[in-house]
Amino acid sequence: MRDRTIAEPYKIKVVEPLRMTTREYREGKIREAGYNTFLLRSEDVYIDLLTDSGTAAMSDNQWAGMMLGDEAYAGSRNFYHLEDAVREIYGFRYVVPTHQGRAAEHITSQLRIKPGQYVPMNMYFTTTREHVERAGGIFYDCIIDEAHDPQSRHPFKGNVDLGKLNRLVEDKGRDAIAYLSIAPCVNMAGGQPFSMENLRRVAAWADRHGIPIIFDATRAVENCYFIQQREPGYAGKSIREILREMMSYGEGCTMSAKKDNLVNIGGFIATNNEDFFVQAKEMVVVFEGLHTYGGLAGRDMEAIARGIYEMVDDAYIASRVRQVEYLGNRLLEAGIPIVEPIGGHAVFLDAKRFLPHIPQDQFPAQALAAALYVDSGVRGMERGIVSAGRDPKTGENRVPKLELVRLAIPRRVYTNLHMDVVAESCIALYEEREKIRGLRMVYEPERLRFFQARFEPIMP
Ligand code: F0G
Repeated sequence: MRDRTIAEPYKIKVVEPLRMTTREYREGKIREAGYNTFLLRSEDVYIDLLTDSGTAAMSDNQWAGMMLGDEAYAGSRNFYHLEDAVREIYGFRYVVPTHQGRAAEHITSQLRIKPGQYVPMNMYFTTTREHVERAGGIFYDCIIDEAHDPQSRHPFKGNVDLGKLNRLVEDKGRDAIAYLSIAPCVNMAGGQPFSMENLRRVAAWADRHGIPIIFDATRAVENCYFIQQREPGYAGKSIREILREMMSYGEGCTMSAKKDNLVNIGGFIATNNEDFFVQAKEMVVVFEGLHTYGGLAGRDMEAIARGIYEMVDDAYIASRVRQVEYLGNRLLEAGIPIVEPIGGHAVFLDAKRFLPHIPQDQFPAQALAAALYVDSGVRGMERGIVSAGRDPKTGENRVPKLELVRLAIPRRVYTNLHMDVVAESCIALYEEREKIRGLRMVYEPERLRFFQARFEPIMP
């Protein structure tokens, strides 16, 4: 029997009109925005694939929960719903809400890193590394080499290389390591998962050395889906079961609820370590708010709690990842260079192969993201040399192997016809790729420069 089509396991109840603009209009807008898609106004964007963060469509059940916000300063009932959901679905006992993921990273980094200590991560993430470095820590990349190769088809490119961990311990000693920060569906590698087998081995290694694992659990359910699809022994397990097993190997996590949890704002720290919990509670009141709201309204915590139960629905997560694969496969069929395998939250155009005539110091991914916007009003973002920033010690540009444009798909927001429009625009650009020119950076912020940097085209 032929494979039957699997449709979205929900129907549309509310719609938001999209605005189409002309190419001429967009040329003006991208110039005004300094060729940085972060600086465009959203109303000038047609299909917004800037990020899958905070852009999800909430369900009727979540919206109903918003009306049940208990907006008390202390002890809101919605906090306890959030705590229950985290305990049941993630399996961590203690929960400290924060306004979003980077706030959880800030508190965790400040409390858990002594200046000069290393934090091994399976590739960097921009804000996570920034907070590690602000706390005096040193980022150490422990992802497998395949993750840095956009053409490697390794099914678990998010895996940790135990050899790299061993080398660090041999060189620096166990006490030089604060904790392992392990991210599922590694964002900067192209949304690539790790396998449960690799995680088990990492956890055994960490246990042997007495080093805790603190997950960046931001996109864990997408990783669980890949484990269910790709890893022997997991085909018959539910996403819920796989997530519980995954989280059981860590002491806790930092979380940006804006992704997996299907909400527009929020985050949390969750842990089984009581001492850390007590310290995090003390610190959250300084930076975020009381430990039973952490910078969130009661209604926001309710939406997260309900989103946590929805995200582990097997049909939902299959449809979410399959939509990303749908776009990726359309591009592959047209011969467009993308990161393979296709990731869990986004399709990543490989700007080095797309624009071989633009050297990396002329920001090919930045130029490609700007050109895509001009062509069709589709907004993606640069994930290459601009995002990588400068080495804090030497002040030199970090030169990443991956020079990518990310097309991140918001959850439950667009249809596959929108994906077709995106694919057609990429194909049209690819056919005329030699017309795209490199850029020069004319304004460079000191920290997380990709958000606000400005550029100009280099004239021939
Ligand atoms: N960790 C990962 C892996 C992320 O992707 C993000 C955010 C964060 C932490 C920080 O969370 O935004 O809630 O403060 N990623 C967004 C993105 C910005 O577009 O990929 P936050």
